[in-house]
Order: sequence, then structure tokens, then C-alpha cells
Amino acid sequence: MPTPDCRVNRTAWRGMIRRRSYSVWKTRRAACRHKMWCLSPFAPMAQPLISPSILSADFACLGEEVRAIDAAGADWIHIDVMDGHFVPNITIGPGVVKALRPHTAKPLDVHLMISPVDGFLEAFAAAGADIITVHPEAGPHTHRTVQAIKALGKQAGVSLNPATPAKMLDYLIDEIDLVLVMSVNPGFGGQSFIASQLRKIEAVRKMIDKTGRKIWLEVDGGVDPALARSCTAAGADVLVAGTAAFRGGPSAYAGNIASLKEGA
Ligand code: DX5
Ligand code: ZN
Repeated sequence: MPTPDCRVNRTAWRGMIRRRSYSVWKTRRAACRHKMWCLSPFAPMAQPLISPSILSADFACLGEEVRAIDAAGADWIHIDVMDGHFVPNITIGPGVVKALRPHTAKPLDVHLMISPVDGFLEAFAAAGADIITVHPEAGPHTHRTVQAIKALGKQAGVSLNPATPAKMLDYLIDEIDLVLVMSVNPGFGGQSFIASQLRKIEAVRKMIDKTGRKIWLEVDGGVDPALARSCTAAGADVLVAGTAAFRGGPSAYAGNIASLKEGA
């Protein structure tokens, strides 16, 4: 027969179990409610990161422009590298990325629209790129290129031109840190957003969620505050903006970035 103090302990013990399981149940219920809220169409969208593209900046004073857009609230700095071969325009090379590096502590989101690309990876990594994004359309060995970017200690992104299906990511999605969906044909800023790419953003979001890995979904081209919401609703979490970020000059940059974040 258990002694009375053991019986008392047993009652205290039962009370404690009841209290603990109630608090566990309460926490679980709150977490579930929060998740339901996050999933509801009325929940505010998580604000996207904004990566202004310096293609639309004043090339005569890129250092000041990077400092100004950084101070205005840019989350990343998008650097469009073009070679006049993969795309019909020429912009900058690793030397300019190196010159810009000291002007900001924000991640340099380098978009390589060049072909071939492998021979330049080391130079852009050494210049200070944090994210190096390549196009599978630019060469035959994208898987090896992604491995080379990771081996350089950088985050690897893959960018899909408007005609390239999300399926192109099937054997890359588990290796990469970022998908860049082009919502214009690459080469120039100030173009109109290609609406069909919203379906691709949704498809890529589903692919990313299936991996359970943290992979950024970035949209690039023709994004303005009105389209920002459609992109985030489709599953984007980073928005590139050139024209919409740099329009109106340095005094307008903070307002431009805020409108892109709020629009979303
Ligand atoms: C286009 C570039 C984009 C472009 C974005 O080839 O990759 O980053 O500069 O500029 P907007 O936002 O003006 O379309
Ligand atoms: Zn770009």
C-alpha cells in the first residue's frame, strides 16, 4: 500500500501532468492558429526583399549610387553583368564589382548574363559577389557551374529566361540557393513585365517548398509596386527592380523601395 506522502505526491504529480499537458496543448493550439492565420488570404504578405538593379543607376557615379540605394533601404544590390553575346547589351565586369564592394555591406546579387560563364566565376567571387546567378541557357554544364560557385563559397543562383520552363530546375533545385525568374527577356532595363511568368513563379514556389530547403525565389524585370503584390502572391520573396527603384534620383530612392515593399 503506498504511504500517504506518496499518495499526496501522486495527486500533485497528476495535477502537474494536467497543467503541463494543458500548457503544451495551448502552445500547440496557438501555433496552429498562427499557421492558419499565415495561410489565410487575409494575412498580410511577408514583405519581399528588394534588390535594386544598378543597370538603371547613373553609371557615371556608381559608387555614390550604391551608397545611396543602400541607405534608402535596399536589402541586396543587384548587379547585371552582360557580355553582348549571351544578351544584346554590354555592361560591367569583375573590376567594377570589386570597385563597388567597399561602398556597401549589403549582399552583392550578381546576375551573370554571359556565355561562356565558368571562366569568370573565380573573378566575380574574388571581386566580392555574395550570390552568383547563372543562366542554364548560357552553357551545357550548369550542374558543374553551380558546383563551382558553391566551391568558391558563394551562394549559387539559377536564372530562367521567359521561354525556359521551371522543369529545367529538376536536377538543380537540390543544389542551389536561389532561383531567378526573368520576367523580361534579359538585356535591358525598363521593359514590360511578361505576365505569363507569374505561372512559372507559382510552379517554382511549389518545387522549392517540396525540397524543404531555404531557396530564395527572386523575380527580375519590369517589376513595379503594382506588380510586386502579384509576384509575392505567386510565391516570390525577393524582387529585383531597376527602373522602379532608381526613378526620380537619389531623393526618391527610399520612397521607391518603400512602395515596392508596401505594394507587395
Ligand atoms: C535585365 C536585367 C534586370 C533589369 C531590371 O536583363 O537582368 O535586372 O535591369 O530592370 P527593370 O526593373 O527596369 O526591368
Ligand atoms: Zn538582372
